[in-house]
Amino acid sequence: MSESGFPIKPIYDENDLPDHLVSRLGAPGEYPYTRGVYKTMYTSRPWTMRQYAGFGTAAESNARYHQLLAAGTTGLSVAFDLPTQMGYDSDDPMVHGEVGKVGVAIDSLDDMRLLFDGIPLDKVSTSMTINAPASLLLLLYQLVAEEQGVAGPALNGTIQNDILKEYIARGTYIFPPKPSLRLVADTFAYCRAEVPRWNTISISGYHMAEAGATPVQEIAFTLANGAEYVRAALAAGLGIDDFAPRLSFFFVARTTLLEEVAKFRAARRIWARLMRDEFGAKDPKSWMLRFHTQTAGVQLTAQQPEVNLVRVAVQGLAAVLGGTQSLHTNSFDEAIALPTEKAARLALRTQQVLAYETDLTSTVDPFAGSYVVEAMTAEIETAVVELMDRVFAHGSSVEAIETGFQKREIETSAYKVAQQIDAGERVVVGLNRFTLDEEEPYEPLRVDPAIEKAQAARLAELRRSRDAGPVERALDDLRAAAKGTENVLYPMREALRARATVGEVSGALREVWGVYRPSDRF
Ligand code: 3HC
Repeated sequence: MSESGFPIKPIYDENDLPDHLVSRLGAPGEYPYTRGVYKTMYTSRPWTMRQYAGFGTAAESNARYHQLLAAGTTGLSVAFDLPTQMGYDSDDPMVHGEVGKVGVAIDSLDDMRLLFDGIPLDKVSTSMTINAPASLLLLLYQLVAEEQGVAGPALNGTIQNDILKEYIARGTYIFPPKPSLRLVADTFAYCRAEVPRWNTISISGYHMAEAGATPVQEIAFTLANGAEYVRAALAAGLGIDDFAPRLSFFFVARTTLLEEVAKFRAARRIWARLMRDEFGAKDPKSWMLRFHTQTAGVQLTAQQPEVNLVRVAVQGLAAVLGGTQSLHTNSFDEAIALPTEKAARLALRTQQVLAYETDLTSTVDPFAGSYVVEAMTAEIETAVVELMDRVFAHGSSVEAIETGFQKREIETSAYKVAQQIDAGERVVVGLNRFTLDEEEPYEPLRVDPAIEKAQAARLAELRRSRDAGPVERALDDLRAAAKGTENVLYPMREALRARATVGEVSGALREVWGVYRPSDRF
C-alpha cells in the first residue's frame, strides 16, 4: 500500500504505462515539466544545499551560518523563534519562555544586522521561514543589504509567506484571511517593483505532511492554496506573468522513495496545466513549479538516533530523483533537540555525497519511462486533481479551510498512520521493531535560557536610544495605509528603518486588521 493509499503492485510492465508516454512527458525544461523545470537540471548546477538553521540570539545564529557556509552549504535558511513568527517582541509577556527557542530572536533592524554580520547579501540566497510577518523580515533584510551597499535588484532569496497552511497545520498566523491575503498581494507587488529576483512565497506542503497528510493530500492542498494566492493577486490587479514566475513551493521527502519521486513529477504537471490553461499565464516561467524539499522530520526517531542518518539519505535521494531545486537534510539528532554542530555538518555531508560521489547529477530525471514511477505519477496526478476539485467545491481554499475540510482530512490520515505504527503494521526501525533494551545516552545542544533577559535588555536600549518621533509618525502612516488601499510595505519599511520593532509594526497592523480566531466548528 502506498502512503497515498493506492495498492503498489509487486510487478509493473508496459501495460501500466500511461498512453502516449513520450508526448505526455515533455522534455526536461519544457511544459509540463514532468522531467524537471530546467533543460539541464543538475548536469549544469546541483540543487541548492540549503540547511534550515537558527536559534538563540542573532550572534549565535550568525556563527552557525558562517560554520555552514564554511562547510559548503550553498544557500542560507533562517529559522525564527516563535515570538518573531507571531509578531511579538522578545520582552512581550505573551511570549515568556519562547525567546530564541525554536529559532533566532529578531526584534529590530539592529538584530537583523547582527544576523548577517560578515555575510555579503549580494553573494548568497537566503530563505526565511516566516509567514504572518514575512513582509517585515523581507524589509529588514533589504535594509541590512542597503547598509552593505547592495540594492534590491541584487538580492535573491525566499520568504515562506504562506499564511493559508498556517491556518491548516502550523498555527503561526496573526491576521484574518482577508487582510492576510491583501498583505501577500502587497508583498508580491512590492517585490516586483523593488526586489525583482526575490521568491515572494514558498507555498508549503511540508507542514501539512508533517501533520499527517498523505502525498496526495500534501500536493492537492498545497496547489489549491497556490491557486488561492494567484486569485488574490489577480484580484489586487497584478498581471499573472508579473508575479507567477516568483512563486515557489516547499514539500517533504519521505522514505517511500518511489511514491515521492512520482509525487514531485505529478505536482509539476498539475501546476503547469493550472497556470497555462486555467489562469492563462503566457510566460513559461509562470508554469514552472520550482520547489524546496526538507526530509521528513516526523519520520526521525529519538530511539537509536544514528539510524536517522540512513533515513535522511534515502529521503534526500527521493528529493533529488524527484527534481528538487533546493534541499534541507535533517540532522540525525533533531528528534531529541536542536542539532549539534556535528549533526548539522553530517546532514550537509549527506547532500554532498549525493551530489559529488553518486552519478545522480550526470543525467536528468533517471526514472523517466520506469513502469512503476510513470504509473504512480499518473495515479497520483489523477487523485490530486480529484481532491483539488473537492477543495474548490467549497468555493475556494479559504472557504474550505474555514469549514475545517483540510484539517479533518489530514487528521484522519494521521490517525490511520498512528494506528498502523501502534499495531506494528507499519515498521519504524528502532521504535516498534529491531529495538534496543537499553538506549545509549545522547548529550543534546541546549539553548541558554538567559537569552530572554539579554534580548529584553537590547530592546530597552533600542527604545531609549532611538528618536521616538519618526517611529510614531511612521507607525501612524502604516495604520493609515492598512485602513486604505496603499501598499503597506512602503510605510512599513520606513517604520523599520526608524528602528520600530517587529512587535510594534505587527501591533499597528493588529490594531487595524484584528487577529484570526479559528471557528470552533472543527
Ligand atoms: N539551468 C538553468 N538555470 C538554472 C539551473 C539549470 N539547470 N539550475 C539553476 N538555475 C538558475 C535558476 O533559474 C535561478 O536563477 P534566478 O535566480 O535568476 O531565478 C538560479 O539558478 C538559482 O536556482 P534555483 O532558483 O532553482 O535555486 P534556489 O535555491 O535559488 O531557489 C527555490 C530554490 C525553491 C526557487 C527557492 O524558493 C528556495 O530556495 N526555497 C527555499 C525554501 C526553504 O528553504 N524553506 C525552508 C522551510 S523550513 C520550515 O518551514 C520550518 C520547519 O518547520 C520545517
